[in-house]
Amino acid sequence: MIDIHSHVLPGIDDGAETIEQAVAMAKVAVEEGITHLYATPHHRNGRYENERSAILEHVAHLNTELQQRKIPLQILPGQEIRIYKELIEDLDRDVFTPLHHELKYLLIELPSNHVPAYAAEIFFELSLRNYTPIIVHPERNSEIIENPDILYEFIITGALTQITASSIAGKFGKKIMNFSNDLINANMAHFIASDAHNTDSRGFHLVKAYERVQKQFGIDMRYYLQENAELVSQGKSIFTPQPSYIRKKKFLGIF
Ligand SMILES: [Fe+2]
Repeated sequence: MIDIHSHVLPGIDDGAETIEQAVAMAKVAVEEGITHLYATPHHRNGRYENERSAILEHVAHLNTELQQRKIPLQILPGQEIRIYKELIEDLDRDVFTPLHHELKYLLIELPSNHVPAYAAEIFFELSLRNYTPIIVHPERNSEIIENPDILYEFIITGALTQITASSIAGKFGKKIMNFSNDLINANMAHFIASDAHNTDSRGFHLVKAYERVQKQFGIDMRYYLQENAELVSQGKSIFTPQPSYIRKKKFLGIF
């Protein structure tokens, strides 16, 4: 199993703090059946800056450590980029880390409470340059929860999305869990990933999430989501089914 989003690299963001914590996370990942774990540290989120060259060094270091300890997990380089106005200008500076060098899929994080007005422009500019944004955990963005059509428009113009396993497993509450299901049901989910930060409060829960998806939507949906992560790691682009709009549920017949 491939997990495309985690904060396993020690000491560079709010994920693992020490090499021992990183190793502990790696062990849990292996128990979950993960063979390849993308390390996707925060970049430009207001607290952390992690450019490509530094990420590659940290990944190589952690892989060596895991090999020495005979832990069968491969760490792959990635990055979680907070959207910012000058993002396109920085594409030429080689500071970003796509999930595959040929595929150029980038994990892009929106602020949690709104969607910036310039986001659509950035996604469009990325697509012109053959980059594909994967919007991480849209199910936790309060503006998208209120108005899912915003996400629909991004997807129609080529953006992909990654739902966090803990959201599906109910760790962020019922509202976010239900909205995650709405997104899957509307073909607005392309990946599930752990976004694991540690082994307890922000763990993996990937198996549980896939099991829930299978139970609720059938085995084909589980395989679709699971295989998309594998395809990306192999540099193959994914199939994107036509999304549908999410209609707000009627509340006491008021709407
Ligand atoms: Fe993350």
